[in-house]
Amino acid sequence: MRACRREPLASPPVWLMRQAGRYMPEYRELRDRVPFLTLCKSPDLVTEVTVHAAERLGVDAAIIFSDLLLPAEAFGLELAYDRGEGPSLSPPLRGAADLARLRTPDVAADLGYVFEGIRRTRSALPPHQPLIGFAGAPFTLASYMIEGGGSSSYLHTKSFMYSDPGAWDELMRRLVVTTGDYLNAQIAAGAQAVQIFDSWVGCLAPGDYGRFVLPHVKGLVAAITPGVPVILFGTQTTALLPQIGAAGAGVVGVDWRVDLLDAWDMLGEVAIMGNLDPVVLMAPREEVVRRTRELLDRAGRRPGWIFNLGHGILPQTPVDNVLALVETVHAWRGR
Ligand code: CP3
Repeated sequence: MRACRREPLASPPVWLMRQAGRYMPEYRELRDRVPFLTLCKSPDLVTEVTVHAAERLGVDAAIIFSDLLLPAEAFGLELAYDRGEGPSLSPPLRGAADLARLRTPDVAADLGYVFEGIRRTRSALPPHQPLIGFAGAPFTLASYMIEGGGSSSYLHTKSFMYSDPGAWDELMRRLVVTTGDYLNAQIAAGAQAVQIFDSWVGCLAPGDYGRFVLPHVKGLVAAITPGVPVILFGTQTTALLPQIGAAGAGVVGVDWRVDLLDAWDMLGEVAIMGNLDPVVLMAPREEVVRRTRELLDRAGRRPGWIFNLGHGILPQTPVDNVLALVETVHAWRGR
């Protein structure tokens, strides 16, 4: 929380995106018994998974175990996670006519299980370990709703945007209203900071980001309960950083494709989160420690840095290497 506010610290805090997940044997065991969506909708299991990961790793924050796509269900799309196939949403939104059949979510009723999970998790965590809530940014959530799943070219998403800017803005506005309510309800339930995942926004040209996305992200950030830190995260965003830095979020998350200090210069007066390549964790332990120290020696003295990976932990990652990373960050003292 102090790093979010850019207060000076002896060493940066650390947490890791996807710190609860398939790389952990305990998680895989639970998933052998419980389907992913059932897990996300069971507040007691959400609490168990969130608290276990934070405790096992000894990280400085927990992130609520949930998924970015759950609100899409509340808009009336059918959501499925089929093993090995990635998530799917149907029927996909392919134009203005499809907006007419979108439900308007009742956030408290439709997503109440998320808030219950947050309440229970907050009371189960040690008081010094902050709990982070999260949601998808309007562009990234829309991309799943329009493509019907993951995508490599965002063909349908961009076609929608370029063909009917009026309908696009209408969709963005509806996502912003619901996502703002969703994040504020997470905060009311006990989330002390919130992260907005705009994971796939890096596929856009800077001009298109400025025209089709940035105004909506600004609207979302401005709608968040005042005083609560907002972390705005994206990947492949190097060319967008000056605009992202002006979105109003106090903290910006960047991936490894940009040098951390260069990113900071482009962002301006914000705190920063990142940005070790998650695949570094596949290297031998000594290399994990060396690369972690290298980043610490470069950026560790600057107030307002949260150590994280540049994207989520991959399922193939050895748990011991994750532990080595966290221990290295904690042992570093501005040497
Ligand atoms: O970070 C954490 O520990 C919190 C949990 C979390 C999950 N998803 C759990 C999850 C968070 C923060 C997310 C966010 C999310 N979900 C994003 C944005 C972050 C990013 O990676 O860019 C996106 C794009 C999604 C959508 C999603 N959910 C995809 C593409 C997938 C399948 C890909 C994969 O890794 O399997 C999911 C499923 C998912 N979400 C899993 C987990 C642990 C794996 C499901 C399983 O147990 O089989």
